Amino acid sequence: MNCSTWLSLILVLVQPWPCFTSTQNDSTQNTDQSFTAVRRVKRGWVWEPLFATEEQPSTVSVYVGQLKSDLEKQDGNLKYVLTGEGAGSIFTIDENNGKIYVTQKLDREKKPFYTLRAQAINRKTQLPVEPDSEFIIKVRDINDHEPQFLDGPYVATVPEMSPEGTSVIQVTATDGDDPSYGNSARLLYSLIQGQPYFSVEPKTGVIRMASGMDRETKDQYLVIIQAKDMVGQAGAFSATATVTINLSDINDNPPKFQQQLYYMSVSEEDPVGTTVGKVFAEDGDIGENAAMDYSIEGDSSDVFDIITDNKTQEGIILLKKRVDYESKRRYSIRAKVVNRYIDDRFLKEEPFEDKTIVKIDVEDADEPPVFTSENYVMEIPEESVSGTVVGMVTARDPDNDDSPVRYSIVHGMHLKRLFSINEHNGTIITTKPLDREIASWHNITVTATETRNPEKISEANVYIQVLDVNDHAPEFPKYYETFVCENAVSGKNILRRAAGNCC
Ligand SMILES: *[C@@H]1O[C@H](CO)[C@@H](O)[C@H](O)[C@H]1NC(C)=O
Ligand SMILES: *[C@@H]1O[C@H](CO)[C@@H](O)[C@H](O)[C@H]1NC(C)=O
Repeated sequence: MNCSTWLSLILVLVQPWPCFTSTQNDSTQNTDQSFTAVRRVKRGWVWEPLFATEEQPSTVSVYVGQLKSDLEKQDGNLKYVLTGEGAGSIFTIDENNGKIYVTQKLDREKKPFYTLRAQAINRKTQLPVEPDSEFIIKVRDINDHEPQFLDGPYVATVPEMSPEGTSVIQVTATDGDDPSYGNSARLLYSLIQGQPYFSVEPKTGVIRMASGMDRETKDQYLVIIQAKDMVGQAGAFSATATVTINLSDINDNPPKFQQQLYYMSVSEEDPVGTTVGKVFAEDGDIGENAAMDYSIEGDSSDVFDIITDNKTQEGIILLKKRVDYESKRRYSIRAKVVNRYIDDRFLKEEPFEDKTIVKIDVEDADEPPVFTSENYVMEIPEESVSGTVVGMVTARDPDNDDSPVRYSIVHGMHLKRLFSINEHNGTIITTKPLDREIASWHNITVTATETRNPEKISEANVYIQVLDVNDHAPEFPKYYETFVCENAVSGKNILRRAAGNCC
């Protein structure tokens, strides 16, 4: 080592004298850094590196080092004087031999070095024997600081099922001690809690997955990390930090119907759009990964529909077409559920869908009688005698028990009762001769009532035209759906959209 590197290393400012190395190290305290003292050849200061260790008890003065001039002749004529930072207070000097002592406790983390000046004075002449020289006393570190996790506690999130070795988070502790000297600031990380799921890299503090983890089994882990200085050896200080690790969801679970078979029922009275029932498939995942769509397979899909309730994840079965107990009493449909967003990684293992059977019974309802038509058009020549048959309406109970029906005419505001209906067979007759000049049309409403359940009533319109005896029979307007001919036989089917065919 030459003179200039030595200077730059310990920042000791020495006058630009030639310097040499020597092995003059009489103080064991000062040998650690293998610095060597520098001696001036002809005349001048003899320097040795000066260190004072921090945190030493202050009851006794501790020797730091010695100022030495090679002009010293041991004759007591030389007096050493110390000035600069802490001279006389923190550092004292024996003016006779130049030995420097530290008298107070030092703290490297507060002040890592002191700049002082040395003087050598001839006692007799009071003149400096040597020019002033500036030098430095370095404060040597001891391990007096424990590591600290400044950013803890930590929270991290990692996707479930991440492969082993996946990096989760890096934790870092800091240590106030001198990183350039000794091991006081050299930290080692270890896992106190969190095995065998996680591991930590001892030097970097990077936490990694140590095994595959399933969020559906456990979605949060508390990991405790310890940082120890002195590379974990004796005398080390340590600190711990907690790391909360949340597993985020991936789509690793398919939806599964709660039941293999569902039973539902719907009444033949229910209108289109009625909710028939609900099916539900469970999915262990959450959020988007649990999103699913229901559908119906097969040919029942023209009668039933299924929609997905995105809030409850239920499949709601709706009636798409009215059902009729008398023609079909039971439906069996196949409902299917599929995850909306599928993760290709898991598709190989199992299909992300499920199926279930839904059996739907049609309930019989007591339905009101049904007229063969909603509108009947009849005609009667004017001046026909009272009791002339105008026409006939027919209604039947669609239910299986086929209740007999009773007919009647709804009499409106006008009190003149010109027609009567046979309550058993629906034959309408006149009760008075009709005058075309007074009214050419008589529009009445007839009802049919079930005898077994008088609450079940239905209505039909009957349009009766009074014909001029001299007139030809008029054409019926086309918009009438059906026509009933006067002489139709009871029970005979009325042909739809085929006026006159039945006559
Ligand atoms: C309807 O009933 C009445 C009275 O019982 C009867 O006179 C008439 O012939 C019946 N009409 C038909 C079409 O059966
Ligand atoms: C009866 O119905 C016929 C045919 O719809 C119509 O032309 C006529 O004005 C109606 N008469 C009454 C009194 O409502």
